[in-house]
Amino acid sequence: MKVKVEKKSILDVEADAIIVNLFEGVKIPGGVTGIVDKAYKGLISNFIIKKEKFTGKYGEIYTLPMADLNKIIYVLGLGKQSDFDYVKIRNLNAKLVRKINESGSVKKVVSILHGAGIAGLCPWCCAQMITEGVYSGLYSFDKYKSEKREVNIKEFIIAEIDNEKYKKAKKGVETGTIVAASVNEARNLINESSQYLYPETLADYAKANSGVKTTVYNKSQIKKMGMNAFLAVGQGSVHEPKLIHMEYIPEKKPKKKIAIVGKGITFDAGGLDIKPASSMLTMRDDMSGAAAVITTMKAISQLKPEIEVHAIVAACENMPSGSAYKPGDVVIAKTGRTIEIDNTDAEGRVTLADALAYSEELGVDEIIDIATLTGACMVALGTVASGIMGNNDKKIKEFIKTAEQAGERFWQLPMYEEYGDSLRSDMADTKNTGGRLGGASAAGVFLSKFISKTPWIHLDIAGTAFLDKANDEGIKNATGVGIRSLIKYITEHK
Ligand code: BES
Ligand code: MG
Ligand code: ZN
Repeated sequence: MKVKVEKKSILDVEADAIIVNLFEGVKIPGGVTGIVDKAYKGLISNFIIKKEKFTGKYGEIYTLPMADLNKIIYVLGLGKQSDFDYVKIRNLNAKLVRKINESGSVKKVVSILHGAGIAGLCPWCCAQMITEGVYSGLYSFDKYKSEKREVNIKEFIIAEIDNEKYKKAKKGVETGTIVAASVNEARNLINESSQYLYPETLADYAKANSGVKTTVYNKSQIKKMGMNAFLAVGQGSVHEPKLIHMEYIPEKKPKKKIAIVGKGITFDAGGLDIKPASSMLTMRDDMSGAAAVITTMKAISQLKPEIEVHAIVAACENMPSGSAYKPGDVVIAKTGRTIEIDNTDAEGRVTLADALAYSEELGVDEIIDIATLTGACMVALGTVASGIMGNNDKKIKEFIKTAEQAGERFWQLPMYEEYGDSLRSDMADTKNTGGRLGGASAAGVFLSKFISKTPWIHLDIAGTAFLDKANDEGIKNATGVGIRSLIKYITEHK
């Protein structure tokens, strides 16, 4: 399946399905929908709108099979023009292709460049959103199903006759294709059973698929680097921990250097502070941050920004066993700071303490970590937005804005020093957990102690990485959250 742009009128593209649109309440369509309406002798205005009472409400799709032309017309309800945005374009297209694909007969689709007409949105962004929506809509994780969902659609053509818009749309489709591939690849990694996906296989995957130079360090090498906090978390598992370092070095002198660090717990049983069954059920998703940075690197290797990018994953499994780290243990982190293990289930921050310290040693200008870190963040923001914190307010604000343009929501949580009060330890420099309250912020304060001076952003995706109910994009289970924002932030942000 491929999304393409053709510099043609929508009427001149041979296809089995033709996609037009309608804003809510419009009686006589304008733009390209208007052109199609006229070509089909008022079919949309007189029949679909007037007679069939199709109102263009957001998310409604009117389907009209045209036997004589051997094609189907789909009219996409865009909702109120004042409420229209890029995310709606993506979600609508995901929904649309899912519907078209189910019909089974459509091989080739031709569509309007939604949003770039009357709505006046940027053609590049609109094309990118359509592309991301189409690839998302056709995504499924059916590797372990005997009956696979077939992708019947072979081509999705966006028709745009205006030369300027065509050129921008082409770029949008190119970028969207790269971004969507990363997102879907991360979804595959996250959805994968932890029986097959453990530190070694994750590292192998990164080596083969990150598209950039990838170095993997084993247990004894990690020990030599002084990353004892990371090692402690993994010591209860039969699988050896791996430190994965991916690097993208641009051809020209880089404008800046950035490190992205992904939490890579391939399964979080909680350790000796074992999780109850219901909480443990989806904990194969605890490497969503790692999946995000690995697949972001793949996109970066293709988009080639003039920025040096390092991606770091401290991958291990958090299991209870005779060799597991225990509550009351004290571990010496890479920075020399000592951590009293208060709860073995607060393992992500313990691994990140060392991964962040490692990335700071690379001498980067900026560090971003992405982690399914706290249930508390999920309680605070639900599945609607991810949490964002850090030590640099300006960069946090910039990230939030970029993410919004990429169609992802991040909400800043405070990181007041007082959130760290509960982390005071009698025997070590800090405990890994304290009280029950303000857990997302306490985790943020804990992490901040392992970075000395580099501007740093922390993304908590615990609530948004894995869903048990489909979102507006129709995505259930692994979402691949964060990738769209990371790619946009790295490639476009100065
Ligand atoms: N991986 C979990 C956080 C999580 C919870 C991710 C729900 C996705 C969905 C993390 O390692 C964890 O167990 N955190 C504990 C910390 C607590 C022991 C202080 C939590 O949030 O309950
Ligand atoms: Mg845990
Ligand atoms: Zn965890």
